[in-house]
Amino acid sequence: MLDDPRVERTRLKRPARWALYATLTILIGSGLGWLAARYGSDIGAASIDQLRRLGVEALMLQVHGAAAFATLIALGAMFTHHVRRGWALLRNRVSGAVVIAALGALIVTGYALYYLVNDASRATISVAHWLVGVAFAPLFVAHVVIGRRASERRARHGARGVKKRVAAHSSAR
Ligand code: HEM
Ligand code: HEM
Repeated sequence: MLDDPRVERTRLKRPARWALYATLTILIGSGLGWLAARYGSDIGAASIDQLRRLGVEALMLQVHGAAAFATLIALGAMFTHHVRRGWALLRNRVSGAVVIAALGALIVTGYALYYLVNDASRATISVAHWLVGVAFAPLFVAHVVIGRRASERRARHGARGVKKRVAAHSSAR
């Protein structure tokens, strides 16, 4: 039964799933924290002094860098089974490809922010990076929700199909 591609699931085991969610929450949270520190005081919501602001920004980037490394490890791990099997079984391909494309853009712009930017390009690359970053959260949630709904539907239909086959088999005896 487990070998049946109609009912095979590409779900992550619970610890892996929660580790991934925690990593992405810290990644996105630290990015948003940096944005709040940098631009929050401009809109007067909380006027903190410059030095404190720079301190918060630096802390957010330290956390963000660590979460970004962990995300790269998680992404590599996702390719070994989840992405390969999901792709081969033609499931959730569009939203999965969007998630990978967004992460690819974040990795390239993140690398550029750290190693390549100069005074002229910094602001543009920074905005490109965090715009994709902010969009990434709803895209990722959509991927999870669409994938899970489809797999629950499949599981229900699969179970019904199995019940029907069992009933037909026992009435034939
Ligand atoms: C083309 C690439 C991808 C494909 C085809 C794909 C496919 C799928 C499928 C079929 C599901 C439903 C799983 C089920 O409930 O049985 C799913 C859910 C999910 N996907 Fe993907 N995926 C892709 C990329 C990714 C990436 C890159 C990540 C993470 C960075 C990811 C994270 C998740 C998570 C967390 C879930 C929810 C699974 C659960 O509840 O255990 N996916 N995906
Ligand atoms: C795999 C995904 C990601 C990677 C590899 C990544 C990497 C990086 C790197 C290397 C930096 C520069 C750090 C520094 O200058 O010390 C950075 C900055 C930043 N990231 Fe990300 N990041 C990712 C996802 C995100 C997400 C999801 C957000 C969501 C809001 C985000 C928001 C930011 C912000 C606001 C900055 C500061 C921009 C600046 O210094 O001008 N990042 N990121």
